[in-house]
Amino acid sequence: MSEQRESGRPAGMDFYVLTLFPDMIRQALEVSILGRASRKGLIRVQTVNIRDFSEDRHMRVDDYPYGGGAGMVMEAEPVCRAIESVEQRSQKRRRVIYLTPQGRVLNQTIVEELAKEEELVLLCGHYEGIDERVLEEKVTDYISIGDYVLTGGELGALVLIDAVSRFVPGVLSNEESAQFESLQDNLLEYPHYTRPEVWRGRAVPEVLLSGDHRKIEAWRHEKSLERTGERRPDLLEKSFRTVGCWYGGERARSPAEELTRWVSRYGSLMDYDRRKLQKQCRVMEKQELLLLAVDLEAEWPKEGNPFRNLRGRETPLALLTLRGSRDSREKLGRFLTEQGFRLLLSRDLTEQQKAGGMDLLALEIRKKNTIENGRGTR
Ligand code: ADE
Repeated sequence: MSEQRESGRPAGMDFYVLTLFPDMIRQALEVSILGRASRKGLIRVQTVNIRDFSEDRHMRVDDYPYGGGAGMVMEAEPVCRAIESVEQRSQKRRRVIYLTPQGRVLNQTIVEELAKEEELVLLCGHYEGIDERVLEEKVTDYISIGDYVLTGGELGALVLIDAVSRFVPGVLSNEESAQFESLQDNLLEYPHYTRPEVWRGRAVPEVLLSGDHRKIEAWRHEKSLERTGERRPDLLEKSFRTVGCWYGGERARSPAEELTRWVSRYGSLMDYDRRKLQKQCRVMEKQELLLLAVDLEAEWPKEGNPFRNLRGRETPLALLTLRGSRDSREKLGRFLTEQGFRLLLSRDLTEQQKAGGMDLLALEIRKKNTIENGRGTR
């Protein structure tokens, strides 16, 4: 039996693909992981053939472009009716995504954002494109899968379905792998090895045989950094070392830990209840990201603000507070800004819990951090 959402809808995700070539979509989704996910009902992909909405007796859906020029343009009316056939299924507002080389280039942050939706409508164009007027009327997002031109949007739609489906619970056998995979930290993945231990004279790195998980994790992080620096230096510039920090005991500790796990695979933790840490001056770098959880009603040290020795160099900061007034949260935010932190967001944890879980908050933080660093995804 499939899991049910609180709303009563079945769990998983619905995709509607509007296309002139439904077979291309169907065939690709019959096999491998997506095939299994479809059979289990975790993802439900329905194709809508735009040609079925043609008003022409020859079932044509394209015509010559006004103003002349090469190629044909898909007409507005059949495309609009195809979209409306999906809209009629329920009142709900859905994102209608047009796959086009003119869109935002798909990346992991956009994928995660789309994975939060329950349904997506994917519109695939052909020929020179689609009449602009129906795009203006119906399309909410323009997405490209890369800076090259394909013959149509179907491969783009398949790429998007594949990447988004990985985030649907149950699609991957190990749910964790959807969270902690390559690119979550803007780092490429470390190298993988399996048996035999020595292959054609090449041995598996010794640390992986040690059974020491801390060491293995540190090695993997180092390799990820090294590899990203060599192969994708552009990504490395966008990568942040995440530090989860708490003040005010257990109440603050567990949200800080949880959020850190959601934001980064390689995040480190700092217990700011420790007097020793408060006494040391620590300057955080621009490429670090501080996630700070503070219980505002916890006792403050006699010396005053516990964070007086914590400095930033325009270091991005997400501030989460428990208890305490809005006023005291804002005051702490201002103090940390004066100390050199760049406040990405500041939240009361109880309110946050009502609005959504830590996974959503982590996504918001990652998005804000990319956008406010001038390399936005929108
Ligand atoms: N249709 C044609 N080229 C495309 C691209 N690069 N991405 C998405 N859809 C497309």
